[in-house]
Formats: sequence, C-alpha cells, structure tokens
Amino acid sequence: MLVTPPTAELHVHLEGTLEPATILDAARRNGLPTPAASAEELAARYEFTDLQSFLDIYYANLVVMRTAEDFYAMTDAYLRRARAANVRRAEMFLDPQTHTLNGIDLAVVIEGITAAMADHPEVSTGLIACFLRHLGPDAALAAYEELVPYRDRLLGVGLDSTEAGHPNRDYAPVFARAAADGLHRVAHAGEEGGPDNVIDSLDLLGVERIDHGVRCLEDPALVTRLAADRIPLTVCPQSNVRLKVVGDMSSHPLPAMLDLGLAVSVHSDDPAYFGGYVDDNYRAIATDLPLTPSHLRTLAANSFEAAFLTPAERAAFRTEVDAWTGSATSTR
Ligand code: HPA
Ligand code: ZN
Repeated sequence: MLVTPPTAELHVHLEGTLEPATILDAARRNGLPTPAASAEELAARYEFTDLQSFLDIYYANLVVMRTAEDFYAMTDAYLRRARAANVRRAEMFLDPQTHTLNGIDLAVVIEGITAAMADHPEVSTGLIACFLRHLGPDAALAAYEELVPYRDRLLGVGLDSTEAGHPNRDYAPVFARAAADGLHRVAHAGEEGGPDNVIDSLDLLGVERIDHGVRCLEDPALVTRLAADRIPLTVCPQSNVRLKVVGDMSSHPLPAMLDLGLAVSVHSDDPAYFGGYVDDNYRAIATDLPLTPSHLRTLAANSFEAAFLTPAERAAFRTEVDAWTGSATSTR
C-alpha cells in the first residue's frame, strides 16, 4: 500500500539529505580527506544520544562541500528522491553560516542550489535560510546582511541548531529585519527546549510556523492557543526517535496532537541521518501508531495549509490530497 499522500515537505535540511556515499564522493572530488573509509563506516557513527551529538557529526561532515557542483548535486539528488516520495512542494532549509565559516562564498552555495531547483519544475520549491543558534544573534545579523542580495531567491528565514542555552528570543532583531523585507519566518522550537521557546517564537519573532514543537504538550494553555490559531507544527517522527526526543515510535505523541486539533504535519528533518525521507516517515507512523488513511490525509492536507503558497496553488494541491485513497500501489 502506498502510505504517502501527496504532501508538502516543510521541514527538511538540505545538508541533512547528504547521504554517506555522497559525502565521500564530494571529499574525493575536492581532494579532501574522507571522513571515513567507507559509507558503511560513516553511517555506523550515526547513533545519537541527543540533538547536539547529531549536530557535531552533521557539521563535521559538511567540510566536504566546496563547489557550486557540490551544492547542485545535493539539491538535485534530494529533489529526485522527494518526487519519488510523492512530495509536490518542498520548502527546504539551508544553513548558510556553516558554509561561509568553511570559507565558501555564499554565491557558490546559492547558485548551486537554485540552479538545481530550476532544473526540477516537477516539484514546487522554496528555500529558507536558517540562522545557527550556537553562533549567536550578532552572527545571525551579519549572516542576514550577506543574504540580502539574494533576498529574491529566498522564501523565508528560519532558526536551527542547538536549542538548549540559546533561546529564540535573542533573535528578535534579525527576525524583525527579515519581516521588514517581506520574508516568511519559521523557527525550530519545542524540540529539546520547552514550551516557553515556542511562545517566544510566536510573540517575539513573529513566526508563522513552529518546526518540531512537540514539547508544546507540556503547556495546556499553549496547546489551546496553537490549535485555535492553527499554528502549524512541522513534526519529524523519525528525527524525534533518533534524537531521543521521544522514547520510540509507538509512543510518539502525533495521534494525541491530532486529537487535540493541532495543525500538525509530517516531515523528515535530516533524512540521510535519521532513517528516512518523508515517505519513510509516513510508513513508520502508519505502521507503529494508531493512524488510519483518513489521519494520513489530514496530515497531508495540513502540510499544504501550512505551506507558503498562493490560494490557487493550495487549492490545487488540496484537490490531489482529497483524491488520495491510500490504496494505490507503492511508488517505490
Ligand atoms: N534541530 C535543530 N537544528 C537542526 C536540526 C534539528 O532537528 N537538523 C539540522 N539542524
Ligand atoms: Zn530541523
């Protein structure tokens, strides 16, 4: 059974789609030391105890990314895989500071990625530049100034990396700048941080979606507000299991979140690290959680409701979701 409805992927880090073999290929192409002797050896290190243990490996792997060809190949491979996963719209995260700190010109990064986006008209795409919380708010403002010339290539800005000890409220100035420039705003919150970081993201950063947000459940008043205002939460089930935000898939709170009327949708986060793309996440939740095809359709409809689309685009995708029955043969 095909368990993936037509969907919008709203929480995927492009750098998190780099498969181990692709990382080794890029290292060799660029004459750099390979981070491991084989793809299997690299993948064997992908056992995480928390968010930080993942981020340490993730950033270390990214030193292999040097040329526009590397960024093109990363995006091209992701969009091919996304289409096979029934992704019709992809709003993809990019961490520009990682690459500029590695000495790469922002132009190289943006040109490579946007060229691949242009070569995949079969997937509707947008790019969201995230600020890295571990580098602090002044670095975020400086990164934003560098992004301004590429403003027309961006859908919005986001906030990611280490949550503990780096509260989102510190980023109000850079989010205000992005808002003044007409960019959409999203932020990771309530993954390892508590409900307060979700509240601050809404009230002080003006975000339109919360990435993750699962820890909102600890604050009933916040749950009521998120449900009443239909604030989208981009939930990443396999990521939550692999980063130990939840114990295992069968105890993931996604069914409870649906029951509470929260505007949740399902995404992959860093698919090359966490065991799968969005279709794999749908398959995992359909297998391990008490969810029916009707629930899956609601999740997919929520993804298009949450996407930054025109009303006409949203209505067209919504028609595709409504027509999905969950009984077609697999696209894999
Ligand atoms: N959380 C925070 N930062 C990230 C993540 C995540 O899940 N993935 C890539 N950067
Ligand atoms: Zn993420």
